[in-house]
Amino acid sequence: MAVRVDGKTFFLETKNTLYQMKADEYGVLKHLWYGVRTGQDMEYLLDYPDVGFSGNIYEADNNRSYSLDTMPLEYATEGVGDFRISAVGVRYQNGASALDLRYESYHVEPGKYSIPGLPAVYAEEYEAETLEVTLKDTASDIRVVLKYGVLPDFDVITRSAVVINDGVQTVMLNKAHSLCLDIPYGQWEWVHFYGRWAKERTPERLPLLHGIQESSSKRGISSHHQNPAVLLCREGCTETSGICIGAVLMYSGCFQAQVEYDQLNQTRLVMGINTHTFCWELEPGKRFYTPEVILSQSNSGMEMLSHQFHRLIREHVCRGRYKMIERPVLINNWEATYFDFNEDKLVEIAKGAAELGVDMLVMDDGWFGKRDSDASGLGDWYENPLKLPNGLSGLAEKINDLGMEFGVWFEPEMISENSDLFRTHPEWAIRIPGRRPMRSRYQLVLDMSRPDVQDYLFDVMSRILNSANITYIKWDFNRSVSDWYSELLPSGRQKEMPHRFVLGLYSLMERLTQAFPDVLFEGCCGGGGRFDAGILYYCPQIWCSDDTDAFERTQIQYGTSFFYPISSMGSHVSAVPNHQTGRITSVKTRGITAMAGSFGYELDLNRLTQEEKDEVKFQIGLFKEYGPLIHNGKYYRLSNPFEDKYAIWEYVSTDARKVLVQGMIFRTEPNMLRYPIYLRGLDPKKKYRLREDGIIYSGNALMNGGILIPKAWGDYVPVEMYLEAIDA
Ligand code: DGJ
Repeated sequence: MAVRVDGKTFFLETKNTLYQMKADEYGVLKHLWYGVRTGQDMEYLLDYPDVGFSGNIYEADNNRSYSLDTMPLEYATEGVGDFRISAVGVRYQNGASALDLRYESYHVEPGKYSIPGLPAVYAEEYEAETLEVTLKDTASDIRVVLKYGVLPDFDVITRSAVVINDGVQTVMLNKAHSLCLDIPYGQWEWVHFYGRWAKERTPERLPLLHGIQESSSKRGISSHHQNPAVLLCREGCTETSGICIGAVLMYSGCFQAQVEYDQLNQTRLVMGINTHTFCWELEPGKRFYTPEVILSQSNSGMEMLSHQFHRLIREHVCRGRYKMIERPVLINNWEATYFDFNEDKLVEIAKGAAELGVDMLVMDDGWFGKRDSDASGLGDWYENPLKLPNGLSGLAEKINDLGMEFGVWFEPEMISENSDLFRTHPEWAIRIPGRRPMRSRYQLVLDMSRPDVQDYLFDVMSRILNSANITYIKWDFNRSVSDWYSELLPSGRQKEMPHRFVLGLYSLMERLTQAFPDVLFEGCCGGGGRFDAGILYYCPQIWCSDDTDAFERTQIQYGTSFFYPISSMGSHVSAVPNHQTGRITSVKTRGITAMAGSFGYELDLNRLTQEEKDEVKFQIGLFKEYGPLIHNGKYYRLSNPFEDKYAIWEYVSTDARKVLVQGMIFRTEPNMLRYPIYLRGLDPKKKYRLREDGIIYSGNALMNGGILIPKAWGDYVPVEMYLEAIDA
């Protein structure tokens, strides 16, 4: 049993962790613990000082130490005496904002709850249990149902909240976060993942100073700039030791994660929809569902936490036919041709790729409408006959005749002013009446909150998918959203638009993925601007970054790996000098970096030398062999590419028999010192043979003595070592 209730104390138990809360004598739901399984009611740790200017709830009478402002709370509210960051806030018709939530009831059921209209972790009944705790504000009859999904075998607890207006007046919900997590003790640090276009998800570990720190997006997308996932690390926590907690928001729009270190040196983390771009009119009888946060905790450092998230996201967030199988090795024509292509050119690229073992050709941006540059055509989803004289089906046939599958690029949520769609439906573009909209890459954004826009996109994309043998879609999104305004919403509800936009996107993605279960959908947003667990519910892989430089990718993929599984990171070998940096690296180095993901190519392979072509053929063969180990094995970050002179990572099969070490040495020095790399996750008692030279090592030696990094000559030198256990 994952959920145990003792009186009004709730124990949520996973294999290694305990999450605990308790409704006290006043019905206040206190958070008691999230950490190792203690088998104990942890309330004994709570000690409330008498803190001036932290008021007391009315019923506590003269007990000056009973304050909502100082105790760890399960779901902190606005306006009733907790002055820290809150999780939920409403405004009533008289302008007041207090919400005094007290415990009312609970309910436990087998299985994992789902959330209407939103992505959520899913599980079989035997894999999970759901706890619902209902809190109520008596004065307004507003209820909040806190939902907990407990997946014991995964050491995961999910959280989400439902705000229900059981009162008689319409209220404005101006904050509804998914998570509030109070940690009363310990010096913690937090890691957030920042960046910019082509430079996504750089981990930044910061001390918690008194006050509030934030990681967020107001861009309508989860963004390149901050990722909706954070880590809390107890001081001293490393890759392999110490306590840490991870929180991943399953949401693809404006988000907010805030962490506060308070007057009593307590830590509070809240996470959910960004309050700056949100307000929701909640009529009597209506409910509001927050997106879900996935929580996990580790007592053995960040590596174990990553393993827990990788497994959970791969098996219980990603869906569909492709989630566990090896994806096709693809070639994408974007960096090979940009907009300048036609059927002949694509077939030529495909031919060269087919000869080397590539499985699929993906036709990128520029195949539709009048789209010879990024200035026009978005929205006109019909083939350009000048580029594709035999249509999509004609091209698909030619590609299929080469023994390859065929995929196409879409940017469904966008519209060019110079397009037939805009001329027919200017009202579908997001603009504020009387103002000129911000343009980005010349394009405007469609109002995805409109059902007619969603229907149009469903119809037009279905028509294309039915018109030819298309088995892959790259779903792109190339700007931040501004000028929020929807013609269909009354003025009082305009702040609902950013969330309604995401709901519209999810609804469309759900319809399409259900209607075309055999199509592999890859998410993309100018690279990795919407790399989040929400998109992974619909697309098992996401283009990780528009930066295809192999060296840069070691850092971007390292940052991404803290939460997201290797199979989710779209990663390609591109041409050199690299188009983003001008850097030159070998095909082998590029291949090794690209293999740490969903593998593919993004160049015209016909232009390679024979020697390079041979290397490509060889590495595709190698990837076909290593792919299952890379995607199903455990992933170990053996170095930190932001600090070390090399980037080395390791995959170990779940039975610890197969081991692949890959990476690159950034720079060679004369008379170079060779460092040992300490492998992890092996069986210390087993013997392993290194494929490259046949030498046998014990697991113990490899983990404690290490293995010397290869001798290097030149820069960006590839590292690859494959070991297999030789004894039973
Ligand atoms: C941004 C994507 O990340 C690229 O791979 C490419 O598809 C372009 N958009 C096309 O416009």
